[in-house]
Amino acid sequence: MAHIIAPSILSSDFANLQSECEMLNNSEADWYHIDVMDGVFVPNITFGMPVISAIKKHATKTFDVHLMIVNPDQFIEDFADAGADILTVHYEACPHLHRSIQRIKAAGMKAGVALNPHTNINLLEDIIQDIDLVCIMSVNPGFGGQSFIENTYTKVSELKALINKKGSNTLIEIDGGVTDKNARKLLDCGADVLVAGSFVFKSDNPTQTIANLKKV
Ligand code: DX5
Ligand code: ZN
Repeated sequence: MAHIIAPSILSSDFANLQSECEMLNNSEADWYHIDVMDGVFVPNITFGMPVISAIKKHATKTFDVHLMIVNPDQFIEDFADAGADILTVHYEACPHLHRSIQRIKAAGMKAGVALNPHTNINLLEDIIQDIDLVCIMSVNPGFGGQSFIENTYTKVSELKALINKKGSNTLIEIDGGVTDKNARKLLDCGADVLVAGSFVFKSDNPTQTIANLKKV
């Protein structure tokens, strides 16, 4: 399967979201990666359902919504209504992860689980077959533009081995510090989805940068 590129709109121009959507629609991007932060789970606040609904009107691609919030269960149906196609919750924010995943699926979305850099892959052993996507955080969540954590490669390989062992078709997504320097190695380790925020939106030509990541 060709790898998926998911630009993170966290690094886009929030005052011109419609034109950023048009750029993404006309690019080789596969998904929109949408980062929701609550100032509690992570030390930053971004946006919520009204903004997601607003960009949904202009977007033509899959909405991959990454919740960096505590107690995400209370908002699952709201994010479905706002237009999320994939809803990712953090392992560290979900004491009843199995229930959260079932509820995301019942709301008609694909279910993702994100792991912070310190969270071990093996903790997913008993649930991997229920998960559509695992998001491996390659930075500490909260901000765009941080440096990639090198230990991520080992985690991707370990997760790929677990997925193969269980015969699951879970996608592996990498989020944080992705550039053309680490993309190839991540894919070789087993990654399926590359999120890129600042590398895309802070470049001179985001459309070309997305095309370059797609060709890696
Ligand atoms: C970080 C977010 C990322 C972020 C990635 O907490 O989850 O999706 O936008 O940004 P870059 O690619 O700049 O590291
Ligand atoms: Zn993210």
